[in-house]
Amino acid sequence: MTGPPIRVLGIESSCDETGLAIVELERGAGRATVQGEVLASQVSLHERYGGVVPELASREHMRNMPVLFDELFRKTGLALSDLDAIGVTCGPGLKGCLLIGVTFAQGLQVGSRLPVFPVNHIEGHILSAEMHYPDLTPPYIALIVSGGHTELQLVEGLGRYTCLSRTRDDAAGEAFDKSANLLGLGYPGGAVLAGLADTSAKGERFLLPRIGREMEGFSYSGLKTAVSLLVKKNATILAHDPSARAEMAWVIQDAIIDSLLHKTRKELAVRKLPLVVCGGVSANKELSRRLRAEWKHVYVPPLTHCVDNGAMIAYVAARYQAAGVVPPGLELRSRWPVEELGRFFGVQSG
Ligand code: KG4
Ligand code: ZN
Repeated sequence: MTGPPIRVLGIESSCDETGLAIVELERGAGRATVQGEVLASQVSLHERYGGVVPELASREHMRNMPVLFDELFRKTGLALSDLDAIGVTCGPGLKGCLLIGVTFAQGLQVGSRLPVFPVNHIEGHILSAEMHYPDLTPPYIALIVSGGHTELQLVEGLGRYTCLSRTRDDAAGEAFDKSANLLGLGYPGGAVLAGLADTSAKGERFLLPRIGREMEGFSYSGLKTAVSLLVKKNATILAHDPSARAEMAWVIQDAIIDSLLHKTRKELAVRKLPLVVCGGVSANKELSRRLRAEWKHVYVPPLTHCVDNGAMIAYVAARYQAAGVVPPGLELRSRWPVEELGRFFGVQSG
């Protein structure tokens, strides 16, 4: 497939980050270049509540969206008429938040007549690895680890996913954040807990059970209870010995990573394929270190594209446009399993 590159605007607003980006995709070689990207994080808005407040999040997206849009086009010197398509996250995510991105995209569509692709947020995370590693081609296994999702998917092509395993309750990012909260590390404390754990030697004073090893799927709600009990039991040591907190952070990080490794190992033993790790928790250094120690072909996107961003959404839309797919209508899907995409886009085989 040859021709001029495809230039796409991506819009992300599924949770607490407003992200916009323009990505250019070469048709033949499949190389992608991020021409510009802007992001507004809402962490400081939600941290006093200890979690994302959906109503506040959607109002903040509404405020940020037009400002970021202007900033992006000013920075890149491009105009809507320079684009070939728009991609917008339609799910999974918070309904009110998704609605802001979708209505903004619809407005742009009316004014520009550009095709607008509904993008699945999880497919965005998965394909962010292909965006950065042009030598990476399906089939491969993707471990998606974010604040809302923990799953292993077999990736056989654009829109072609088979779920191998997913969490039965909490996500790995949630386990990091809730544990961090119990240790008094603020919200979202995943990265803070990881940073603290990295300052500690192996935590031998504290023990956490390995939960869910034998059951199907990941499970983290039991871990949360175990951490809560451990913190209560050791309240005095934690209050007086700063190294104890770091050691406990180490033990918690170890338990979360151990469960991710255990299920991934089982799948990679059956299918000897490359591994992609994506979603916010893939920013965890110890997780990538342990995965890379065990497997040769591990692909992790750069830090800025591990967490939510507009570039991954633009890239997915560009890939569908390049594949000649006609965009189905925009419809919010707060729950949207990635394995339903084949039917949705009509790309089940080939
Ligand atoms: O993908 P993401 O930005 O948003 C969702 O779609 O959920 O993921 C956010 C999650 C949060 O739970 C955050 O604490 C976690 O990723 N996270 C980390 C690290 N950086 C971000 N968890 C562990 N270690 C990190 N370094
Ligand atoms: Zn995400």
